[in-house]
Amino acid sequence: MALAHPQLDSDGQLRHFLDLDGLSREMLTTILDTAEGFAPLGARKVQTVPLLRGRTVANLFFENSTRTRTAFELAAKRLSADVLNIDLVSSSTAKGESLLDTLRVLESLQCDMFIVRHAQSGAARFIARHVAPDITVVNGGDGQHAHPTQGMLDMFTIRRHKGNFESLVVVLIGDIRHSRVARSDLAALRTLGAGEVRVVGPRTLVPAEVESLGARLVPRLDDALVGADVIMGLRLQRERMQGAKVPSSGEFFRHYGLSAERLSLAKPDAIVMHPGPTNRGVEIAADVADSPQSVILEQVTAGLAVRMAVMSMVLGARSGAPL
Ligand code: CP
Repeated sequence: MALAHPQLDSDGQLRHFLDLDGLSREMLTTILDTAEGFAPLGARKVQTVPLLRGRTVANLFFENSTRTRTAFELAAKRLSADVLNIDLVSSSTAKGESLLDTLRVLESLQCDMFIVRHAQSGAARFIARHVAPDITVVNGGDGQHAHPTQGMLDMFTIRRHKGNFESLVVVLIGDIRHSRVARSDLAALRTLGAGEVRVVGPRTLVPAEVESLGARLVPRLDDALVGADVIMGLRLQRERMQGAKVPSSGEFFRHYGLSAERLSLAKPDAIVMHPGPTNRGVEIAADVADSPQSVILEQVTAGLAVRMAVMSMVLGARSGAPL
C-alpha cells in the first residue's frame, strides 16, 4: 500500500503545511496568488473576512518568536478564527506533561489547527502524525529543518519586486547550516525555477548538501554579490551551534557582513532581505538594513497575507476570491 503524503490529502490539496520540499510549483504559485488576494485587506477599514469563523487555531510555540507568532495570530484573527496562544512557560508542559498529552488536551478543547514552533527538527511532522484526523498542523519553524511560511513570504516579496524567478541571481549569505529559513528558501527557489542561486559563508556553516539543493557555493562574498538581484542575509544561529564555529562577530562581519560598499557590487536595483531577527554589525550593517534597498519590513508584512493564504488553504476554506 502506498504511504500517504505527509502534507497533501488524497485529492492533492494541502492537509498540513510542514515543508516546501515536495510541494509542486503549481501549489507554491497557488499559495502566492492566494496571498496576493489577501494582501489588500490590510489597507481596508474592515480588515477581517469570515473564512475561518467558528474555527479555533492554537499557537504552540516551544521556541521564542516575535514575527512568526504574532503574524499567525493576526492572520487567524483576520480570517475570523478564534485564537489560543498557549503560554508554554506557564503551561503544564513545565510540570512534566508530555507533548502528546498536551496535544490531547487541546484536541479535547476542539481546536482545528495547531501552529507549531519547536527546537527539534521534525517536530511538526511528528505532531501531524499524531493529531486527530480532523486537525491540521502548520509548521512555524522546526529546528534547522524547515520554516515553510517564511520561505513563502520570502518568495512573495521577491515576486512582488522582481515579477519572476527565472531571470534572477539570488545570494544567500552566512549560517546556512543551522538555518531552517535557508532550507525552505532553497527548496522554494529550486521549485519556482530561480535562474541562479549562490550560497556564501564560512566553510563550517555551509553544508555540502547545498549543491544538491540547486545552489552554487561561492567562496568569497564579493564574488557572490556581483550581478545579484536578491541578497538574503542570515543570522548566526548560535543557539544551534555545538561549540564555537565562528571566531567572533567582528571577524564574521569582516568576511561575510553585508556593508554598503559590498552592496554596490550587486545590481543597482537589488533588494536586501533578512528573515529577522537581524544582528546589526554582524551579518548586516545598520545603514544597509535601513537603506531604500532593504525590504526586511515588507517581508514581515507579507507574512500576514501568506499565513492567511496557508491557513485558509489547509482548512479547505478556499472558495474562489477571498475578498
Ligand atoms: N523570521 C522568524 O522566524 O522570526 P521570529 O523568530 O521572530 O518568528
